[in-house]
Amino acid sequence: MLILGIESSCDETAASVVENGRRVRSNRIASQVPLHQRYGGVVPEIASRAHLEQIVPIVEGALGEAGVSLVEIDAVAVTRGPGLIGCLLVGVEYAKALAATRGLPLIAVQHVAGHLYSPSIGREKDAWGQDVRRSADFEPYIGLAISGGHSSLVLVRGPLQYETLGETLDDAVGEAYDKIAKLIGLGYPGGPQVDEWAARGDSGAFHLPRPLLKKAGYDFSFSGLKTAFAREVEKLGGREYVERNERLTADLCASFQAACIDVLLGRAKKALKDYDLKRLAVVGGVACNKGLREALARLRDVDVAFPEPEFCTDNAAMIAGAAAPIFQAREFSDISLSATAQLELAAPPQSWQVVATT
Ligand code: KG4
Ligand code: ZN
Repeated sequence: MLILGIESSCDETAASVVENGRRVRSNRIASQVPLHQRYGGVVPEIASRAHLEQIVPIVEGALGEAGVSLVEIDAVAVTRGPGLIGCLLVGVEYAKALAATRGLPLIAVQHVAGHLYSPSIGREKDAWGQDVRRSADFEPYIGLAISGGHSSLVLVRGPLQYETLGETLDDAVGEAYDKIAKLIGLGYPGGPQVDEWAARGDSGAFHLPRPLLKKAGYDFSFSGLKTAFAREVEKLGGREYVERNERLTADLCASFQAACIDVLLGRAKKALKDYDLKRLAVVGGVACNKGLREALARLRDVDVAFPEPEFCTDNAAMIAGAAAPIFQAREFSDISLSATAQLELAAPPQSWQVVATT
């Protein structure tokens, strides 16, 4: 079974061909980072226009890299939401047109469901170390989905069987990284840069809060941490002063990163203990974070899956992969499918809830 996946929810135009929901035959991504860099964040209008320009070459590139033509494709999968509506529309309308003209089944995938599926895909091995040419021996795991738009702790009982345990009450962790990076004059996207600077700094230099860590439940909150960081920058003399001082930049980044890692790790460990599980999958753009990977690798008695970085940040392989169980359940969409800016993660797929349509 070959599924062509398309992803355009934010600032990456992506297409991929995945075999049997496991083996990535191609993974093409056109990043728009250079287009948004000078604005310090994603500009929705610029993003939608860039998706329009990129979608055809990216899909053709994915088919070419996989060495297949549309005739061999069994279904077209697309991210329906959540995301920026103008961006989602490009992918959804293109996928609908492709499916209709080629007579292919159309499959709608929720974006975070794609991220949570990403440990099961790979070029040779999946993120658990299993051969992707074989079907997966599924064992339940705790999924930590951390990106620029989401921070969720999810109990994964089976393929696409998701139960959200906790979510962020305000900013997503990647969003907090991007915002504090901006506060000290680091470029966009801030996450990877803060990660680099943090490796050179002293994580004990500034005492930043660990929001909600001691509270019951599994929710996150990052906005208080971001405000505390901003206060430290002000106390030090403001952005210009910090920008000129490499030691301060490194120490601030290291202290911020340590607070994030403590919170993410603390919540994940609590969920593993409460549900008596030994498997943890860390997915989404922030899962690329080196400090977090090192801290998680030190966990004893826990099997941690880190998808390859190309499957952590937004990509279409995770969408094509997550579409496989939906294909098997024959839960197809039709030409009336609409892009949806806010779409809850829910399971099974037929119970996806539409919260609001922009
Ligand atoms: O999954 P993704 O590509 O898009 C969303 O669905 O949001 O995640 C992008 C986010 C950005 O906020 C970016 O700063 C963050 O992931 N990110 C990182 C790192 N690499 C990417 N955050 C911390 N450390 C990193 N190494
Ligand atoms: Zn994402």
